[in-house]
Amino acid sequence: MRPRSRATLLLAAFLALALLLPLGGCAPRSAPEDTAGDGGEDTVLLGFSQLGRESAWRMGNSRDIQEAAERAGVQLMYDNAQQEQENQIKAIRSFIAYQVDVIAFAPIVEQGWDTVLTEARDAGIPVLLTDRFIVTEDPSLYVGYVGADFLAEGRKAGAFLVEKADREGLEDLKIVELSGTLSSTPMQQRSSGFREMIAGDARFEILETVSGDFLRSKGKECMIALLERHERIDVLFSHNDSMTLGAIEAIEEAGLRPGEDIIIITVDGEQAAIDLLQEGKINCVVECTPMLGDIIMDLTKKLAAGEEIPRVTHPEEDVFCEFDADLMDIPPRGY
Ligand code: AHR
Repeated sequence: MRPRSRATLLLAAFLALALLLPLGGCAPRSAPEDTAGDGGEDTVLLGFSQLGRESAWRMGNSRDIQEAAERAGVQLMYDNAQQEQENQIKAIRSFIAYQVDVIAFAPIVEQGWDTVLTEARDAGIPVLLTDRFIVTEDPSLYVGYVGADFLAEGRKAGAFLVEKADREGLEDLKIVELSGTLSSTPMQQRSSGFREMIAGDARFEILETVSGDFLRSKGKECMIALLERHERIDVLFSHNDSMTLGAIEAIEEAGLRPGEDIIIITVDGEQAAIDLLQEGKINCVVECTPMLGDIIMDLTKKLAAGEEIPRVTHPEEDVFCEFDADLMDIPPRGY
């Protein structure tokens, strides 16, 4: 842990005020939080930049990190970037100026982080990637990653479709894909994993992939357009539940039955999606857990103590689908 001078504490007060001002967005930013409560000099200080509020998953992830910090006695400087990479870069710079012990952030896209992460490394602050990866030629710019295995998620989605086709003797399935934010890790890897599982199998054809940016409103808009453009759609593979919920509205408004006329495969596992799985309107939910807070706090404490951490940490994740015997017994999801 680093000692903080009087000047640094004054700077902190200034940064706290700066973080309260919207940076290019219209929503207010949250103030840095002393979740440990004591603000003492020996408390581990974590600067965390969240990418936005685009989905129930993201809100659950933010809440979990804030609660985990409190449980762990880690002091959290939390900033929400409102979906703008530029805001994340500004937040990281303010964490560096404040000399936090550890910086963690969920990068909205993979490219464009080298400059600011070089500044963090030069300041001697370890950087932990959470939820999403970055692309860099310099692996020393971050010490580790904690988050889902998105390639495995895409494969699980594809494996479900193959199993469904095998069990029910389905042929000639026309698929549309609603992808997440372009150039984000989950968007790229979920697509690749899904394609890997159905590649070379003549029963499956991907008609089109469109990006709904992980947003419910865009999921609906995109699905309306897809239904207009294609005479027949048999399968929707959607990269997150928020877009799926919007798409289901569009499907029902078009007079079709989600889960029956169109097979619905979605990723995340938020409560609303599990409810629709149990109602038969979704066929498969691949879990992507937002509950990363405890792991992040554990790794933060190790980093602050100068210990080594694993390069990659994945939480355990499940798949829920219409073939599960215990479909109606899924415990409450909490997000
Ligand atoms: O990076 C994780 C993804 O981002 C989740 O699947 C999605 O819901 C979120 O917005």
